[in-house]
Amino acid sequence: MKCLDCGYETDINQKIITCPRCGGLLEIKVKLKGFSFSNLKGRGVWRYKDAIPGNYSKIVSINEGNTPLIPSRIYKQTFYKFEGANPTGSFKDRGMTVAVSSAVNTGYKVVAAASTGNTAASAAAYASRAGLRIYLVLPKGKVALGKLAQSILYGATILEVNGSFDIAMASVMRLYKDLGIVYPLNSFNPWRLEGQKTIAYEIAEEIGEPDNVIVPVGNAGNIYAIWKGFTELQEAGVISKIPRMIGIQAEGAAPIAKAIEKGLNEPEFFENPETIATAIRIGKPVNWKKAIKAIRSSKGTALSVSDQEIIDAQKKLAREEGIGAEPASAAALAGYEKAINEGIVDKDQKNVLILTGHALKDPDAMLRLDARRILINPEHIENIVLGEINDNN
Ligand code: F0G
Repeated sequence: MKCLDCGYETDINQKIITCPRCGGLLEIKVKLKGFSFSNLKGRGVWRYKDAIPGNYSKIVSINEGNTPLIPSRIYKQTFYKFEGANPTGSFKDRGMTVAVSSAVNTGYKVVAAASTGNTAASAAAYASRAGLRIYLVLPKGKVALGKLAQSILYGATILEVNGSFDIAMASVMRLYKDLGIVYPLNSFNPWRLEGQKTIAYEIAEEIGEPDNVIVPVGNAGNIYAIWKGFTELQEAGVISKIPRMIGIQAEGAAPIAKAIEKGLNEPEFFENPETIATAIRIGKPVNWKKAIKAIRSSKGTALSVSDQEIIDAQKKLAREEGIGAEPASAAALAGYEKAINEGIVDKDQKNVLILTGHALKDPDAMLRLDARRILINPEHIENIVLGEINDNN
């Protein structure tokens, strides 16, 4: 393990979450030995257990991962990795199975997470499965209904703050770092990213290495996790190159995209992030250093898209591809189309868009879309349908 901030290095130790010397972000270095897809057994995240360091004598799993890679109907050679098919409806489950298993195997009884909603729902489910007490810190009034409902369903204690995710995140840091009383399930916990990197393993096993991978970015852990997965496979000679990582943010919450655009070494944080894509409504991504590393070293980039572009992309995904993704995930398609238009990516290359969460997470976003809902007299249903069929002929 190596600290991205001060360079401190230590042997792999599952008890360590942040740098013991400076509190910074730790990277877990993994060197695959004799790794081959043809030797693997099982499905989902734990199929790749040889690539996940640590002791997992007890695994807390609800069969996460093994999500569909769906070919686009519109763009040839483009695929959607539909993470909405995970047990709680987002990619977070991949990270939670590893982090919660680590918490159990290192003896923790209480876990906590700040969240824009999906981490909360996922953490709550895995904590229940493990029999752990869980505290969730949420930005009041800014969590999509489905995610809040899930957190209630799984029985978590919900602590609400007036303010953004970033304030919630800071208070979880206080519980973990200053008070040392909880195991943190946010993505600054590098063990979570060891689970999330299996997105890359699954893609590589199914279609080899893509040219570009397009990922919505919020707290900025996932883009790094996916890059890390591809990097490990490339270093082991399993794939021949690392795809370019293209991060997509919402215009109102775009510190990483702005930093890449302006060539800054450190992002300028957004004090009051705002976007319809509440999952990625984050102004101070804790993993910014990891995300910038993944983007720069893969020769990728980061872009921002407007709320209107996100809404249009969500509709297009649903109404032209038949895929229901939440707004933050649809940002990947909005960003992909922008990248095509700006000549940043070639639509005829092999490209994968990560659709991070299910449409059902955010019913309000769906209900705001234009709908054809007509109150009818059931006796005269043919008046409408016949009339329209005739008009179309
Ligand atoms: N897409 C969805 C649906 C998300 O829920 C998130 C993050 C992201 C993308 C961005 O991933 O943070 O690794 O860059 N949601 C977190 C949460 C912040 O609390 O659920 P990231």
